[in-house]
Amino acid sequence: MISIENLEYVYPSGRHALKNINLTIQRGEFVAIVGRNGSGKSTFAGVLSGLIKPTKGTVLVNGINTRSKKNFIELRKTLGMVFQNPENQIVFEKVRDDIAFGLRNLNFTDAEIETRIDEISKTMAIEQFTDSFELSMGQKQRVAIASVLAMNPQCIVFDEPTAMLDPKGKKDIQNIVVELHKAGLTVVYVTNVIDEVLVADRIVVIENGSIKAEFQKHELFDNIEKMKSFGLEIPLTMDLLHILKQKGIDIFVKKWAVDDVANNIFTYIEMIKDEMNA
Ligand SMILES: Nc1ncnc2c1ncn2[C@@H]1O[C@H](COP(=O)(O)OP(=O)(O)OP(=O)(O)O)[C@@H](O)[C@H]1O
Ligand SMILES: [Mg+2]
Repeated sequence: MISIENLEYVYPSGRHALKNINLTIQRGEFVAIVGRNGSGKSTFAGVLSGLIKPTKGTVLVNGINTRSKKNFIELRKTLGMVFQNPENQIVFEKVRDDIAFGLRNLNFTDAEIETRIDEISKTMAIEQFTDSFELSMGQKQRVAIASVLAMNPQCIVFDEPTAMLDPKGKKDIQNIVVELHKAGLTVVYVTNVIDEVLVADRIVVIENGSIKAEFQKHELFDNIEKMKSFGLEIPLTMDLLHILKQKGIDIFVKKWAVDDVANNIFTYIEMIKDEMNA
């Protein structure tokens, strides 16, 4: 789906923001991109979406070279991008106009645009939203995602989409992203919130513009020390079980959500109790 070869990006200021990046992302995969502030995550997301042209190297999205101006519409139909601040993405007063804007740029007919807006508004539960500027941050982010989804892309790149939202808003967007992935979309998700990576298939660590590590989700628990060495936070549930493991209590879990882990700890304690009573 996405193939990146020898990617370099240097800002006009001379800042070498991306260095020798090679990465392949399969169709339907969910890849989390993590790294410290200033490591190059947003630049990377910008390059994937074609907004930033590589200084060197090639980025192909479904075979479309992101460098090509000629293929920009094709690229937009294939890959959408959602930013941290929905206010940078929403330009029109009316929600419907905002969703229509992207579609109009892609040369959809008026009738098709209306149908698509109706469909996506229903899916995203934003039918009752009318005036963009009267919405909360979380609601605006849902509109921003709807605008992208209306184009029916195969892949969405998110750049810290929950950073400006309250806990409920964060949860809503996280659930939407998980559903999109389940529905078959390829998801590239830039985040600094480590708990959010737990839904990804693969975690890519960027440091100082380069890929420094890659983990499949199931490898994360065994690489906690390495993750910490990159200045990354560890999901609390993983940290807890890691500390217990160091103390000789090895509890096996498959899922890292708090209730799953609590249930596993409970089962473990019950088992110990039974053994003591036996
Ligand atoms: N428009 C720009 N012009 C020049 N340098 C830039 C520009 N945007 C970013 N940079 C620099 O490029 C590097 C990577 O920035 P980038 O925004 O990609 O990092 P990031 O990982 O997204 O950081 P954050 O976690 O803070 O969002 C940083 O050193 C930054 O200062
Ligand atoms: Mg950023």
